[in-house]
Amino acid sequence: MTTRRSLIVGNWKMFTAIEDGIALARAISERTSDAEYADIVLCPTYCGLYPIGELLRNTRIAVGGQNMHWETEGPFTGEISARMLLTCGCRYVILGHSERRTHFGETDAVVNKKTLQAIAAGLIPIVCVGETMAQREAGLADRVVETQVREGLSGLSGEQIAGITVAYEPVWAIGTGRVATPELADEIHTRIRNLLAAVSNRETANAVRVLYGGSVKPDNAAALLAKSNIDGVLVGGASLHPDSFTAIVEAARS
Ligand code: PGA
Repeated sequence: MTTRRSLIVGNWKMFTAIEDGIALARAISERTSDAEYADIVLCPTYCGLYPIGELLRNTRIAVGGQNMHWETEGPFTGEISARMLLTCGCRYVILGHSERRTHFGETDAVVNKKTLQAIAAGLIPIVCVGETMAQREAGLADRVVETQVREGLSGLSGEQIAGITVAYEPVWAIGTGRVATPELADEIHTRIRNLLAAVSNRETANAVRVLYGGSVKPDNAAALLAKSNIDGVLVGGASLHPDSFTAIVEAARS
């Protein structure tokens, strides 16, 4: 049985300007300095990446981007490349978040191109998947997630799959306060891991951390993290406050 270290990721979305972001990163870093049982990643807004990357250099906390373009460079107004993220100190990048899919039209094919580019550049992609409530009610949740995993990871070698992270984030749970039950999340995570085994092998699938995201809070994190196939959490709203985020990190202790 592979042991996977818990991974706790804070996604600040389009919140926190530079000063607030630096203060938040500093507070989280100070308060998690003894959390040797978990890996922690903060994903600030673009303008905060460089100063926060500098602030967190040589600490236990890694920095991640919230998105990136699939080309190395070019005339893509408003976009950011993998190398730009790397030079700001990023090790991770969130790809295919449901807000990118819903508001910016990202398809599985786009997520796939970005995933391949992130890996080629040396970033660790956190590939997000998850169904809407309408899809769940129509009995399509498993099929939707399977398609997103298969197409998002298309063309990756087994070795490349071993190096990624997957986040299951049911769209109906994001920002709604309506968290998936640990049982439901664990069931989908198990399916995702079986699917990863089918497209690579069991050993590879066992190495991949599968995170849960969607209304993770201090009072529900421990029950989610206790499940054998939930290897960490991707936290939005509760990552914007040092108290709630550090309480979630603390929940990974046991
Ligand atoms: P939430 O967001 O924790 O605010 O629901 C999670 C996410 O979007 O990653």
